Amino acid sequence: LISKELRFIVNKIEYKRFVAPHLTLLEVLRNHLGLTGTKEGCDGGECGACTVLLGGIPVLSCLILAEDAANKEITTIEGIGTPHQLHSIQEAFLNEGAVQCGFCTPGMILSARALLDRNPEPTEEDIKEALSGNLCRCTGYTKIIRAVLRSAKILSNA
Ligand code: FES
Repeated sequence: LISKELRFIVNKIEYKRFVAPHLTLLEVLRNHLGLTGTKEGCDGGECGACTVLLGGIPVLSCLILAEDAANKEITTIEGIGTPHQLHSIQEAFLNEGAVQCGFCTPGMILSARALLDRNPEPTEEDIKEALSGNLCRCTGYTKIIRAVLRSAKILSNA
C-alpha cells in the first residue's frame, strides 16, 4: 500500500506525515506524532480509552481512518492541559479521586470536555449519557460523575 502525505491539525498544531491508507487515527497519533496520551484499550470501539475530539465531537480514534481525520480539527488530551497547568476538568478529577489506574482518564476527560462545551450545566443523567461510551474498571464511576459536576460548577463560576 502506498503512503500518502496527509495534513493533521492536532491541538492547533499542523503536522504533515506520510501515512499508509489503512492506518487509524489512533495509530497516527501515538506512533507517528508521538502523542501517547491517547490510550489504546480494546482497539475495537468498545472501551472509549482512545476517545479524541474531531471538530469538537468525541470519536473513537481506533475506528477512524487517519485519512478521514486529515485537515480537521483534532483535540487530544495533550491539548487540554499540561502537567504544570491542568485544565479545571483534570483538577476536578484529581480532587475527587476519579483517577485510579488512569487508563480511562484521557478519554473520559475529552468526553467530559465535549459535554461541558455544549452543556455547561449538565445533570447527573446528562453526564452518565455523555460518558456511557467510556468504560472504567477501577472507580465505579461515582467519583468520575462527581468530578464532572464539580468542574461544571467551577467553569460556570469562572
Ligand atoms: Fe482505571 Fe478508570 S481509573 S480504568
